[in-house]
Amino acid sequence: WWGHVPAGAPDVILGIRDTYLKDPHPKKVNLGVGAYRDDDGKPFVLPSVRRAEEIIYEKCLNHEYGPISGEPPFTEACAKLAFGEKSKPLCEKTNATVQALSGTGALRLGFEFISRHYNKTREIWLPKPTWFNHPQICDAVCLPMKSYRYFAPKTLGFDVDGAVEDLSKAPEGAIVLLHACAHNPTGIDPKKHEWERLSKVIKERKLFPFFDMAYQGFATGDVDNDALAVRMFVDHGHEVMVAQSFAKNMGLYGERVGALTILCGDPETTARVMSQLKVIIRTIYSNPSINGSRIVQEILTSPELMKQWLGDVKSMADRVISMRKMLRSAIEAAGNKRTWNHITDQIGMFCYTGLNPEQVERLIKEFHIYLTKDGRISVAGITTKNVGYVAECMHKVTS
Ligand code: LMR
Repeated sequence: WWGHVPAGAPDVILGIRDTYLKDPHPKKVNLGVGAYRDDDGKPFVLPSVRRAEEIIYEKCLNHEYGPISGEPPFTEACAKLAFGEKSKPLCEKTNATVQALSGTGALRLGFEFISRHYNKTREIWLPKPTWFNHPQICDAVCLPMKSYRYFAPKTLGFDVDGAVEDLSKAPEGAIVLLHACAHNPTGIDPKKHEWERLSKVIKERKLFPFFDMAYQGFATGDVDNDALAVRMFVDHGHEVMVAQSFAKNMGLYGERVGALTILCGDPETTARVMSQLKVIIRTIYSNPSINGSRIVQEILTSPELMKQWLGDVKSMADRVISMRKMLRSAIEAAGNKRTWNHITDQIGMFCYTGLNPEQVERLIKEFHIYLTKDGRISVAGITTKNVGYVAECMHKVTS
C-alpha cells in the first residue's frame, strides 16, 4: 500500500540532534536546537518547576480528561501573563484563550482557525527570515505566504523601513506574523518606536496581527518587558491573535504546553470563537494533556512560585547574556579581523552569526559543532567549558 511514499526531509532543526547524538567526537557541541542548557551542557529543570511538581504530586490528583479548551485557571493565567493583569480585553472577557500543544500547536490551531473562518485576504506575511517551521505550518493549512523585510544584512539589525514599506503594500486584511520578542533566528527585536511604526502601518492597511510569543522572558529576563509589543498593539486597539509557549521560559519542552488567544471584541463573538476552537481541537487531539499545564498553572497562580519562577527565567537569560560576552571576547582575542559586536547586540536564545553555508559546513564536518545551515547558533548551548573551543573554531572558519 505504501511503497510509493517518498522519504520526507529530515527536520532542519530537530534533525540536527540525531546527527549530533551519533557523532562520537569528544568535543562535539550542539548549538542547533533552541533548548536551554546549564553550564555543564545539561538540560535544566527550573527549581520553580520542581517545586510545582512536588506540590502537584502531594495533591494526589487523578488522570481524568481535562476540558477541551484546557482548565480555566490555566488559560486565564496564560492570558494574564501575555496581556497583563489589567488588560482591557481580559477585564471585558473578550479573549478566547485555549490550551495548545506548545508554540507549534498554538500556531497550527490559530492557522487552522484562520483557514476555516477568516473572511478577509487569506495571505500571511512572514518576516524574512523567520523560524523554519512557520512556512511549513502555513503550508499544512494551505495558507499562501508572502514575506516582508526584517533583517538588514548591512547593519545586521532590524530593517524597519523595509518592513514598513513592504507591509504598506500588503493587501487589506492580510495576516502579519510577528515575533513578540527574541526573534528566531536573528535575535534582533524592533525597538519600542519601531514597534509603534509597525503597529501604525498594520492599522492603516487594516492588516491582521498574529504574534508568536515563544520566548517571553528570554529576551530581557523580564516577562513584562518582553510582552511590550503585544500589550502595545492591544492598547492601540488591534484585536490580535497570540500563540504562547512554555517550552523555553519554563523549560517544559517535552510537555508540549502552550496557549492560543484570539481577541474577539465582544463577549458574544468570544463565545462563538471559543466553540469553534473546541471543534477544531476535538477533531485533532480531543483534549490537551494535563501534566504540563498543571505545572504552569501551579506556578502562575501561586505568588510565591511565580516569584521563584521569575528569578529562574532571569537566571537563564543572564547566563545566555554572559555566554554571548565570553564568545565574542574569545573570538576577538583570537585576533579575528571581523566585527563580532552582533553577538552581544542580539538578544534571546539565538545568535545569527553571519557564517555562510560553507563555514557552517566546516564547523559541522571538521569541528563537530552543530548549528543550523543559516548560521544560527543557540547561545544557550554554550558553556564556560566549551566556549573556548567554539570561539577557536569560529575564528578558524572565518579567517
Ligand atoms: C528552535 O527554533 O530551535 C526551537 O524553536 C525548537 C524547534 O522546535 O524548532
